[in-house]
Amino acid sequence: MQTISGRSVAGRSACTARVANRARKVCVTRAAATVEKHEEKAVGASWQFTQPAGKGLGFYTGAEDGYLYCDQMRVEDIRHKVPESPFYLYSWNRIAHNYAEYKKALAGLDSLPCYAVKANNNFVIMKQLAAAGAGAVLVSGNELKLATKAGFDPKRTILNGNGKLPWELELAAEMGVNINIDSEFDLENIAAAARKTGKKVSVLLRINPDVDPQVHSYVSTGLASSKFGIRNSHIKWFLDEIRKEPLLELVGVHSHLGSTITKVNIFRDAAVIMCDFVKMIRAEGFQLKYLNIGGGLGIDYSHQGQVLPTPTDLIDTVRDIVKELGLTLVIEPGRSMVATGSALVNTVTGVKTNGSKNFIVIDGSMATLIRPSLYGAYQHIELTKPHSTPVQTFDVVGPICESGDYLGKDRELATPSKGDGIVVHDAGAYCMSMASNYNLKMKPAEYMVENGSLRKIRHEETLEQHLAVFEGL
Ligand code: LLP
Repeated sequence: MQTISGRSVAGRSACTARVANRARKVCVTRAAATVEKHEEKAVGASWQFTQPAGKGLGFYTGAEDGYLYCDQMRVEDIRHKVPESPFYLYSWNRIAHNYAEYKKALAGLDSLPCYAVKANNNFVIMKQLAAAGAGAVLVSGNELKLATKAGFDPKRTILNGNGKLPWELELAAEMGVNINIDSEFDLENIAAAARKTGKKVSVLLRINPDVDPQVHSYVSTGLASSKFGIRNSHIKWFLDEIRKEPLLELVGVHSHLGSTITKVNIFRDAAVIMCDFVKMIRAEGFQLKYLNIGGGLGIDYSHQGQVLPTPTDLIDTVRDIVKELGLTLVIEPGRSMVATGSALVNTVTGVKTNGSKNFIVIDGSMATLIRPSLYGAYQHIELTKPHSTPVQTFDVVGPICESGDYLGKDRELATPSKGDGIVVHDAGAYCMSMASNYNLKMKPAEYMVENGSLRKIRHEETLEQHLAVFEGL
C-alpha cells in the first residue's frame, strides 16, 4: 500500500468512508485549544451525521453508501454541476428546521426571535428568514439597509454595537429600529439622532451580568471587563439621562454573554441577575417590556455526538423568570440558526509530505474560511465520497502565503487524489461573512439545496469587480 508519509498504515488498507468516520473521532479529541471547548459526552445527536442515503436532513454521510449528502443530493454530484470551486453549499431545509426549533421552544411566551445577521448575510437566506417571520439583530447601518431590503420589519430589529456611528443611529431612528445603549457617548449619540430625526426611539440598556460564558476570550462579551455594555455601577446615571430625553423610551434590558456557549445554566445565571436589574429599573418608574438574553448557543463542531443544549433547553431555563415578570423574551441566535446548514466545498489541489508531516492542499483557504486560523477553531472535515486509500494524518491547508493558513490540523482522512472533493462542515455561521480577498482570492459563490433542487444564491466575486473600486482615480 502506497503512503505519502512513509509511516506504517498496516491494518488500515481496507479504509472505507465508515473507517474514516471512526478514525475522525480519534482526531477530534486531539483538537485542543479550540473556540468550542465543550464538555464531552459519549452520546448525543450523532444521528445527524449519518442518515439514510438521500433521505436525511442537512449534511450527513449516507449510511448505505458512504457518500456525503446535502439533503437528498450527493455533494459529489453537486460538485460536478457547479463550475466554481471552492463554493459554499447550504441546506435551506436545515436552516428552516433550526429556526423552527426556536419557534417551537418559544411557544407559550411573548417573544421576539431575532436572527443575528452578522453570522451570515447572504441576501437570499436573509429574505427567507424574514419571510419565515424572524426579526433581526444588526450591528451596522449596512446590515440595517440590507435587512430592510430583505423584508425584515424594522420594528422587529435591534441595532447593537459599541461604536455605532451617527449616520447609523439616524437611519435606525428614522426606521423605528430598537437601539441598544452601550455607553455614555452612545446614549448621547442616540439622543442626538432622535432629536435630528424628530423620531421617538425605543432603547434597551446593554448590561454586563458579569457571568463567565467559559468560551474563547475573543467571543466572550458579558464580563465586567468587556468592551461592550454600560458600567453597571453607573446605571442610575443612565436612567436619569434617559428620563431627561422625551424622545427616548426605555423598553428593555439586553445582555449577550458570548458565543459557542454549551451550558444553559450560564444563561440562567445571567437571566437571574438581569431580572434584578429589571426590578430595579421598574422601581425607578420605567415600563420595561423586553428582556433580551442575546445569542450564543453553541453547536457540535466536533461531530462526536455531544449532548449540547437545544433551543428548548435554553428557553426553558429562563421561562419562569420571563413569565413571572410579564416580559417579552428577545433572543438573538446566529450560529445555532445557520452554522449546521452549510459546508464549504473544496477541491484537492494536491497531496504532499514534508518529512513526517502530510498535507492535503485545497483551493479553499483562510481567505474563504478564517475561523481555524483566527481562533484555532475546530471544524470537521470530510471527503465527499468513500475512498479505499490509506487513512493518514493530514493538515488540511490552503494556498495562502502564510503558515497560519489551515482549515484543519492532524485530521485522519483517507488519502485523496488531485481533484477530489473535501468539505469543511458547519460553515454557515461566521465563515462566508468573515471571508476576505487576501492574496486576491475572490469571495466564493454560494449554492443552496432547497426541496431537492440546487440553486445559486450568490455569484463568485470577480477581479473586474475588484478593479472597479479603483476606476477613475
Ligand atoms: N447578539 C450579539 C449582541 C452578538 O454580539 C452576537 C455575536 C450574537 C447575538 C450572535 O451570537 P451567536 O448566536 O452566533 O453565538 N466570529 C466568531 C463569533 C463572533 C460572535 C459575535 N457576536 C466565530 O466565528 O465564532
